[in-house]
Amino acid sequence: MSPIRPSRPAPLLTLLAAAPLSLLVACGGGGSDDDDDDIDAGDTAAVTYYQHVKPILDAKCVNCHSADGIGPFELDDFDEARTYGPEASLAVELGIMPPWPPDADCNEYKADRSLTAEQKATIAAWVEGGMVEGDAASPGAPLDVEDTGLSRVDVRLEMPAAYMPAANADTPDDYRCFVIPWEGATEQYVTGFRADPGNAKIVHHVIAFYASPAQLAEYQQLDTDEAGDGYTCFGGPGGSSRGVWLGGWAPGTLGTDFPDGTGLLVEPGSAVILQVHYNINNVLDTGVDPDLTAVEFRIDDSVEQVAMIMPWANPNWLNGTGMTIPAGDDDVTHAFQFDPTPFLTENRGFTIYSPGLHMHQLGRSATASIVRAAGGSECLLGIEQWNFHWQGSYGLREPVHFAPGDQLRVECNWDNSAQNQPFVGGEQQAPRDVHWGEGTTDEMCLATFYVAIDAP
Ligand code: HEC
Repeated sequence: MSPIRPSRPAPLLTLLAAAPLSLLVACGGGGSDDDDDDIDAGDTAAVTYYQHVKPILDAKCVNCHSADGIGPFELDDFDEARTYGPEASLAVELGIMPPWPPDADCNEYKADRSLTAEQKATIAAWVEGGMVEGDAASPGAPLDVEDTGLSRVDVRLEMPAAYMPAANADTPDDYRCFVIPWEGATEQYVTGFRADPGNAKIVHHVIAFYASPAQLAEYQQLDTDEAGDGYTCFGGPGGSSRGVWLGGWAPGTLGTDFPDGTGLLVEPGSAVILQVHYNINNVLDTGVDPDLTAVEFRIDDSVEQVAMIMPWANPNWLNGTGMTIPAGDDDVTHAFQFDPTPFLTENRGFTIYSPGLHMHQLGRSATASIVRAAGGSECLLGIEQWNFHWQGSYGLREPVHFAPGDQLRVECNWDNSAQNQPFVGGEQQAPRDVHWGEGTTDEMCLATFYVAIDAP
């Protein structure tokens, strides 16, 4: 099969000033649906750590709650589990942990890391029954873990040098971009991605943006213009790259192969702009160590279908007051729906493999969906409780086909009330009119779709 090359840059794409924060994040520890060990209600003492609780924690929590994970404490042995058991049970009950923002009634995703009702009940029963240890010699069977990770590493790119985040207790976040030249001598396709965080306690997410050969000099200039390695960037990589990216990663995941037969084009002479979001809240007591993060790619010389990442927003939102979120208003919605096929895909349909959503810190909820030409709509991704720190895109268990005539829709809702304002230097800010922009106090409403375009 001959590769299908999406026309790039496409008009709508070039209008988009920034990219979302993480993409193709494999999202997750475990995907098994059922806990085999049914617990009889009322018999809480029969629930033990080794037989019932450990398999759940191992599959759903330990990927972050371990010595070198992003979680603030460990959950990988009995003593730790007992110490944090009551909090763990509460966090699970409230749906705060594990972080899994997609609404369950919207669609189904690969490597879903949320807990089943039975698993939540098991942890609750264990805590109620006094957190019994059980017999280490006959542990419960491990749960299936669906996150199989990246199957092969062909290219590994490291940050140019170890970096010390510019962060402190008042401003614990630092968003830094590093320019790393791509060394391939021919056109290649990225067919899988993961990040290997150097200091996993503080690396909150990593995105590999793509700078074409023509853009390389511009990004090198951004780097040169700012003291130290790399340059400050929030949301997107700045410059003119307009949100073309190769992969994203968030803690607790092993990386992922892209859908079979698909990949993203990289050209000789291009560069990867590595954005690392540091958050030092975990290490305020112990002190911050520098970070040296790497990204790893699976590469193929050809693919059956060239994929692209389609950012989705109303181009008018980017103009000045095109997406105003008025000061003090606690319920602001902007939505956009449109058929992109005449502009982006030469009137061809496409298959959507993974939807993602991106807003900044005032976001409350968002949805990405398809409004069908024949009537009705199909939910691709819904986030009811937006959390800036846990955003990503999610691999659809069943990819969805978009046909010319259908419309892609994104809808975002914000809370710009006085109570929902960010703190700067310990002081809560006064509400102000907010518009589209790349800054931490600007907003965005952006959906992203990893798509492969139909053969002509
Ligand atoms: C993807 C990484 C990740 C996974 C998986 C995860 N956690 Fe967490 N957890 C964190 C981080 C990071 C924090 C710190 C607070 C935050 O950033 O939301 C945290 C905080 C917590 C807290 C403190 C809650 C609070 O309000 O401060 C508890 C309790 C907890 N996790 C329990 C669990 C349990 C139980 C599981 C598994 C069922 C789990 N976590 C899975 C990353 C994770």
